[in-house]
Amino acid sequence: MTILGIDIGGSGVKGAPVDTVRGELLGERFRVPTPQPATVDGVVEAVAEVAEKFGDCDSVGITFPGVVVDGVTRTAANVDRSWLDAPAAQLFARRLGKPVTVLNDADAAGAAEVAFGAGRDQSGLIMMVTLGTGIGTALFLDGVLIPNTELGHVEIDGKDAELLAADRIRESKELSWEQWAPRVERYLRHIEMLLAPRLFIIGGGVSKKSEKFFPLIDIRTPMVAATLLNNAGIIGAAVSAEQAAQGPGGQDPGAIQVDAAAQAARD
Ligand code: BGC
Repeated sequence: MTILGIDIGGSGVKGAPVDTVRGELLGERFRVPTPQPATVDGVVEAVAEVAEKFGDCDSVGITFPGVVVDGVTRTAANVDRSWLDAPAAQLFARRLGKPVTVLNDADAAGAAEVAFGAGRDQSGLIMMVTLGTGIGTALFLDGVLIPNTELGHVEIDGKDAELLAADRIRESKELSWEQWAPRVERYLRHIEMLLAPRLFIIGGGVSKKSEKFFPLIDIRTPMVAATLLNNAGIIGAAVSAEQAAQGPGGQDPGAIQVDAAAQAARD
């Protein structure tokens, strides 16, 4: 059984076939730029281009940078507004002709870290925080995902936290590590106060450079860098697709599988 994982990010759409037992990519990733603006039609085509690169597969897991409920995308903070209430899973399934599962990008990355990476064998409440174009969050209680938390949008000083501390802000404002780290600290302290998690797993591309900013952050909660780095979303998406194929009771009950192709054949 071949399962593809595809991660829709702010700048690139990346995918690869995944070994869902070991939590590893089965080959090189293929990446195309995310269309700008990132409209539904444009992104569906970009995802198809990535999927076609790998030939035939049994099912596809796709991450989306917003809330996804029952395969429908509900928010669009960093993509085009055409995604609001779009039947994403159906659209992808129709275009790819394969069963498809769509889930939030941070949830996917967190699920991969919890299964195979920095969150392995951790009990209690743990939180994945991805610092990228936005701030994504994923909450796990004893290894079970509570899907679609949007804690990157809590308000700090009356402002959306991701506009304060996302990695995009570091880049666009050309902040030094010393200037950016206190912003991340402020954010994490706020979350600590609200939720008291046992562990923060910090992901996103910038987690590769954790040695530059972790020492500058003073919080009480233990904090570790994601270990699957940029592949966490791809791996988590594929694992979710596999669980969805096995029916209800998987990690994310919202990550249902939509097989528009089979549906169309029946109609
Ligand atoms: C979105 C989240 C997403 C995060 C990272 C935020 O702006 O609201 O759903 O997980 O960005 O892409």
